[in-house]
Amino acid sequence: MKNKLLNIKNLALEQLNQSKNIDELERIRVNFLGKKGELTQVLRAMGGLSKEERPIVGKLANEIRKELEENIKNAKLAIEKSLKDIKLKEETIDVTIPGKFNSIGRRHPLMQVKEELENLFLSMGYDVVEGPEIDTVENNFDALNAPEDHPSRDMSDTFYLSDNILLRTQTSPVQIRIMKTQEPPIRMVSAGRTFRFDDVDDTHSPMFHQMECLVIDKGVTMANLKDSIDKFVKQLFGDEMKTRFRPHNFPFTEPSAEVDVSCLKCMGKGCEFCHGTGWSMELLGCGMVHPNVLRNCGIDPEIYSGYAFGMGVDRVTMVKYGINNIRLLFENDARFLKQF
Ligand code: DAH
Repeated sequence: MKNKLLNIKNLALEQLNQSKNIDELERIRVNFLGKKGELTQVLRAMGGLSKEERPIVGKLANEIRKELEENIKNAKLAIEKSLKDIKLKEETIDVTIPGKFNSIGRRHPLMQVKEELENLFLSMGYDVVEGPEIDTVENNFDALNAPEDHPSRDMSDTFYLSDNILLRTQTSPVQIRIMKTQEPPIRMVSAGRTFRFDDVDDTHSPMFHQMECLVIDKGVTMANLKDSIDKFVKQLFGDEMKTRFRPHNFPFTEPSAEVDVSCLKCMGKGCEFCHGTGWSMELLGCGMVHPNVLRNCGIDPEIYSGYAFGMGVDRVTMVKYGINNIRLLFENDARFLKQF
């Protein structure tokens, strides 16, 4: 009996040594110490022992039970501790590791200038409206008093999608859309992309941006046009900024002019940037809305008059930031763009 008990103990201890998880421990406990466990069965069989042997075997059996219980408890604690250690290791956060940075984008300088212009005109009481980049030949040319033989309608100058539909060559068709749907007085600006079959050079790109302005009311004169342009140029670039109006020709305005502003680098003195002229490149075209255009849109030129201008947003951006190559605005080199 004694030997049997010692065998049970050794077997149990051996299994305990090899056990790797709590389930195995529980199985060992049930196998040896449970109701039908091996040790329990030995204890049950003690009835058949002699009076002398019984206390000795009973004591030994109890000692073994205690020892096994103790061992199971310790093994359980050891397994729990190692599980906890693994978990702690896995979940360790090294607060000294540098964080992951997502570089945040920024507004493109062209969009910044477009919004600045829109806000400026909003503050002067103009509506900001949108027009489509694909428009009809009628809106882009005919209604704007550009006859069929006008050079700007040349197939090679313009991106036609079909005979009647094209990528707008200017934002001026937005004027037509507004005049055809709204009663005067009208005060609006509209900015967006425009397209021409232009070769790329320092100041030209086949895709560029314009902002159109249109004012129609009773008694509007060229003096109002000059005053408005002077005011917004000063607001945009500063009070020292001068404007120069040069006579020009646009089919949709009469009289028409092109406007230059002082060179921002030398403020009119003449420098390398402005090729010694003191004036920056042409900024916008403007004029008094042609009576034919008003008539085409159902507005009586005997009652109403108006002015309009179309401004190169890319050019304003270039003048404002002293950029001498339009390509820089479209190459999307982050090193360049992040300066603005
Ligand atoms: N659309 C003209 C262009 O692209 C610019 C322009 C000139 C717009 C005079 C106007 C204007 O509204 O009145 O060159």
